[in-house]
Amino acid sequence: MQILDGQLASRQLKDTLKLQVAQLVIEGKKVPHLAAVLIGNNGASETYVNAKVKACSEIGFKSTLIRLEDTVSENKLLGIIEELNGDIEIDGILVQLPLPSHISDEKVINAIEPSKDVDGFHPVSIGRMVQGLPTFIPATPHGIMLLLQHYQIDTTGFHAVILGRSNIVGRPISILLSSNSNPGNCTVTVCHSKTRDLGNLCRQADMVIAALGRPEFVKADMIKEQAVVIDVGITRVPDATKKKGFALKGDVLFSEVSSKCSFITPVPGGVGPMTIAALLKNTFKACTDKN
Ligand code: GUN
Repeated sequence: MQILDGQLASRQLKDTLKLQVAQLVIEGKKVPHLAAVLIGNNGASETYVNAKVKACSEIGFKSTLIRLEDTVSENKLLGIIEELNGDIEIDGILVQLPLPSHISDEKVINAIEPSKDVDGFHPVSIGRMVQGLPTFIPATPHGIMLLLQHYQIDTTGFHAVILGRSNIVGRPISILLSSNSNPGNCTVTVCHSKTRDLGNLCRQADMVIAALGRPEFVKADMIKEQAVVIDVGITRVPDATKKKGFALKGDVLFSEVSSKCSFITPVPGGVGPMTIAALLKNTFKACTDKN
């Protein structure tokens, strides 16, 4: 079994981006600038957004963090997005999800100018991805593809079983893995809460992508010997022995599954850092496509 080290792979991607930013500076060109909007005080969202902003500064990107109260009105938020859309200094816009329940995800995502949609959630970005056209690929699926690429895992002909059909992970990774590309060229099964005999489907998989947000749901008896296992889950589970009062748990029972598979991502340190690297790549593209 080999660990797919997302920390290591993302470090390499960030080092490359850092050199590319330095080259932009030498050429007197614009440096990428990400605007991140964080609403409310969700601990996990704060951690993710802070990590994104920190990664920007590590590689020489500019970033602006806009913090809003969770009582902010939908109209106010849409107005801020409109301003960011029109601001030529800003290359990429990210509104951290989930949003408070009085704000429509759909309206907010649709309001972001597609050329600044570094999360790749806008219908234009998704449509272009489905058609295999150049676009922004959502950061988590993009990060998974980059990790498979980094470890040169040839997925051609794989049966990939995806657990979860979210717009952020499950659905887009199903499109990417079924595309005529490598990584890609998989036969894909997307499982969800209504899937019958999920264990049986998983046992047929050459690769399982677990993205359901249910801690340690995937057990060893669901995994074929030598399968590739990608764990997207990262749930905070109360744990009094930890300083922060919680432990981070993936969707895969690592202690059982790791001895059975060929490759596996750890949690933390697997998909999470790759998501950030992918966001940075998207932001670099948003900047250089325009300037
Ligand atoms: N919430 C969970 N994942 C993501 C992501 O990739 N982007 C944004 N904006 N919010 C998220």
